[in-house]
Amino acid sequence: MLLLRAVFAGVWALALPVLLSLTPACLSALPPRNETARVARYVMHHCDWGALATISTHSPVTGQPFNNVFSVSDGTQGASTGTPYFYLTAMEISVQDLQVNPNASFTVSLAQTPFCRKAGYDPQSPLCAHVIFCGSIQTVNGTEASTAKQVLFSRHPEMATWPTDHNWFFAKLNITNIWLLDYFGGIKTVTPEEYYDAKP
Ligand SMILES: *[C@@H]1O[C@H](CO)[C@@H](O)[C@H](O)[C@H]1NC(C)=O
Ligand SMILES: *[C@@H]1O[C@H](CO)[C@@H](O)[C@H](O)[C@H]1NC(C)=O
Ligand SMILES: *[C@@H]1O[C@H](CO)[C@@H](O)[C@H](O)[C@H]1NC(C)=O
Ligand SMILES: *[C@@H]1O[C@H](CO)[C@@H](O)[C@H](O)[C@H]1NC(C)=O
Repeated sequence: MLLLRAVFAGVWALALPVLLSLTPACLSALPPRNETARVARYVMHHCDWGALATISTHSPVTGQPFNNVFSVSDGTQGASTGTPYFYLTAMEISVQDLQVNPNASFTVSLAQTPFCRKAGYDPQSPLCAHVIFCGSIQTVNGTEASTAKQVLFSRHPEMATWPTDHNWFFAKLNITNIWLLDYFGGIKTVTPEEYYDAKP
């Protein structure tokens, strides 16, 4: 096991200069990888969608994890808030799960952007930065709903045309825990306070 690890570490050590030499221009915009909270904010802001896991309420997988794709926005382009906002309808299978148990996990990855493809990073490579959020999905109201509408519709213009009889509403993930994988050496945690305090 130790030997394997050493071999792997060796392979990565050799691969790293090659990988870094393939770095796309946009990598300069990625905050230093040791600035964990800023990297998490960067990844969240640059993703337009993510995978939302709920606890299923639907037979035959009742009580089991259920992962589904949702459009997301944490701010108009270049103006990150850090908060993942969603446009949801109770007609949707995962939203029906959330009505029973609002606890959820949401994942976004730079594999969804040109970043990893241009650099040649496999989505599972730690260099292809990805973030896992846990928390609960909450309906947003009042001025926050206006904010959610603006940040979502600016990045997902098609939403404005979605059928009104589906009773769409705005929601957010109330983040309780954050994990970031952006470099070798294991996953890192970021507190919601560090995340919201970070300058993206
Ligand atoms: C990140 O690393 C740079 C260079 O090694 C160092 O100057 C900086 O203080 C580090 N930042 C944090 C938050 O550790
Ligand atoms: C949601 O998660 C919290 C922990 O963050 C837990 O206390 C609560 O019981 C969970 N809710 C449900 C409905 O499972
Ligand atoms: C928004 O209003 C709904 C319904 O009144 C409520 O359940 C929810 O907690 C509110 N959301 C927030 C973030 O206050
Ligand atoms: C967000 O979740 C935390 C932890 O579960 C809870 O204490 C807090 O009240 C929630 N925030 C809102 C706006 O409901």
